[in-house]
Amino acid sequence: QATAAEDLGADIGIIGGSGFYEFLDSPRKIAVETPFGPPSADLAVGDVNGRTVAFLPRHGERHQHPPHLVNYRANLWALRSVGVRQVLAPCAVGSLKPELEPGVFVVPDQVVDRTWGRRQTVYDVEGEVVHVPFADPYCPRGRQVVLDDAGAAAGPVVDGGTLVVIQGPRFSSRAESQWHAAAGWSVVGMTGMPEAAIARELAMCFTTVAMVTDHDAGVEAGEHVTHAEVMKIFAGNIDRLKALLLQVIDDLPEPESDAEASCTCRRVLDGMSLPFE
Ligand code: ADE
Repeated sequence: QATAAEDLGADIGIIGGSGFYEFLDSPRKIAVETPFGPPSADLAVGDVNGRTVAFLPRHGERHQHPPHLVNYRANLWALRSVGVRQVLAPCAVGSLKPELEPGVFVVPDQVVDRTWGRRQTVYDVEGEVVHVPFADPYCPRGRQVVLDDAGAAAGPVVDGGTLVVIQGPRFSSRAESQWHAAAGWSVVGMTGMPEAAIARELAMCFTTVAMVTDHDAGVEAGEHVTHAEVMKIFAGNIDRLKALLLQVIDDLPEPESDAEASCTCRRVLDGMSLPFE
């Protein structure tokens, strides 16, 4: 199955909410097996403005996988196995700064991992010691394309900031939230890690667009975050996010072009012999 999809030339992968199915013209559903078990859903592979894109709903087709149970390893492996080298990973986040209002898009340039108990690595066997660089967790080229495209497609976006990823599925306590804000971090989510790290382990370019859906608990006294609020703001801004990602898909480097092949993300495994190469 993986080989069939590879023939389709899917180079771009999107991991996001199920609304993104609409992106694809007559998608083919591809069931991919991975050494880590099944991904969140079958991959949907189809055409977006002439580019072949593989879409994977992060939380499953019925939104059945909570953030701490998403099989991040299988998701990235599945995309990589059908040829994807550039991943766009939109996500919903809470804001840790008063000026980052709901509806704002942030393109983080840093991440802090406060998750625990998640399977963090695909290099999980004796005899396979791999340490990938992660100083700059997000793809510099992917980030720049999003920033360049945002103005016309979605309005201003915030360039940079630190995404702190909590284990969930509960939201933060007020003290936790104030601590995250005092550290200078910008936004808080539940899915960004280990997703970004595993993409790096597979030498894939990985870019996150974080949609602010709420002020986290420590930022505004009195209110607390609710799931309903997150869903409502997300729904109200999804069209802007889709418009932005459509444009980004258009503008990402072509597969195996010099721009794509020379990206620093692609070179992190140089000199290593890998099970999937
Ligand atoms: N996702 C959306 N809002 C969030 C918040 N406040 N904390 C963690 N994850 C979130």
